[in-house]
Amino acid sequence: MSKKPNRTSRRGFLRTALAGGAAAIASPALTADSNPANLPPNVADWSKTLGEGVAVRTYGKPAKSEAHIGRRDVSWLTASPQSSVSFTPLHEIDGIITPNGLCFERHHSGIAEVNPADYRLMLHGLVDKPLMFTLDDIKRMPRVNRAYFCECAANSGMEWRGAQLNGAQFTHGMVHCVMYTGVPLKVLLNEAGLKPSAKWLLLEGGDAAAMTRSLPLAKALDDALVAYRMNGEMLYPENGYPVRMVLPGWEANIWVKWLRRIEVGDQPWHTREETSKYTDVMADGQARRFTYVMEAKSVITNPSPQAPINHKSGFTVLSGIAWSGRGKIARVDVSIDGGRNWRPAKIDGPAWDKALTRFYYEFDWDGSELLLQSRAMDESGYVQPSKTELRKYRGVNSIYHNNGIQTWHVRSNGEVENVEVG
Ligand code: MTE
Ligand code: CO
Repeated sequence: MSKKPNRTSRRGFLRTALAGGAAAIASPALTADSNPANLPPNVADWSKTLGEGVAVRTYGKPAKSEAHIGRRDVSWLTASPQSSVSFTPLHEIDGIITPNGLCFERHHSGIAEVNPADYRLMLHGLVDKPLMFTLDDIKRMPRVNRAYFCECAANSGMEWRGAQLNGAQFTHGMVHCVMYTGVPLKVLLNEAGLKPSAKWLLLEGGDAAAMTRSLPLAKALDDALVAYRMNGEMLYPENGYPVRMVLPGWEANIWVKWLRRIEVGDQPWHTREETSKYTDVMADGQARRFTYVMEAKSVITNPSPQAPINHKSGFTVLSGIAWSGRGKIARVDVSIDGGRNWRPAKIDGPAWDKALTRFYYEFDWDGSELLLQSRAMDESGYVQPSKTELRKYRGVNSIYHNNGIQTWHVRSNGEVENVEVG
């Protein structure tokens, strides 16, 4: 790191923007697909004719120029597209809500296309009255709206042994945050009546993988939701249409999609997904089990390898997301020199319980190289660890639950690369 860029000053930003008057604002070079005939003082093409009428686009889509934005997979990561993952383009979105069509997908046997008329949710086991719900039954019950992040335990799992994937989409894109509408699971359980010996629940998915996980009763009676809407719309097929489990703050694997069966028992079932998978192999080879909570984590989404800095220097807004499975994000710090100096980031928008939280850091970039990092702290006082600290405790044998601090190296030409600092 050569020079430390100045702290941001809003007055500084205004000075730069106003100094050259309008010319300074219009000065960026024309890009290849730009047409000078559309620029002021000319009348642009789109101002000369009537546009398309209403209801032609019965379901809206982003502007044509934004059509490149989408979920992406990494072809060499998995053996088949049916048991694979596509990542959220974190560098292309702002705020805290993930648009439905951009939510990362993780399936073990592809997308189940459920006919809602044939959908049933079975609730049985250690209950007074076994029940079978149709989708309409579920929609008639008291409902709530809650925004939560959903993070795969394997998010950042490729980064345990060093910097690997070049893009926030690929290092951190197994997370999304939507507003769910659903019925608290305890409402269904009360309806069935729990036997005194009830302690665990089995959740089973209706896809060909029949994903099954054991859920402790305490979580089921706390904030678990049987959700059927995301951001107001019915769940999309890839996210579990028509019904999925929402387990706030817990690893996404247990958020069973296409939920078809809940069995109440007195002990865990020890399914594949909680024995050979979704356990954390420690440095000594012992595996931790039932590590449900996703600890506090953050990442700078802009700039990042897929979103370089395109202005040469000057006022720069750095943007990112933070989240914690233990509650609200209390604070985010940002470093532009690889963790030597930290400054508080500005949190903007809601900082909701177990939801993504948006932060910004504004500074005057002098064009020198930067090592960008962000560090989240949650309301429990937990501070996101550096990768070195995390490895001291966890070793490097793990796949899951990697919440170490990410470093982006910004070159003076604005290009960004995934790196690690000692
Ligand atoms: N539920 C079923 N039935 N089948 C699955 O393959 N994958 C799990 C979980 N629930 C899965 C499932 C995993 S590992 C993750 S990360 C999340 O769903 C992904 O949810 P999303 O596709 O909505 O992002
Ligand atoms: Co997962």
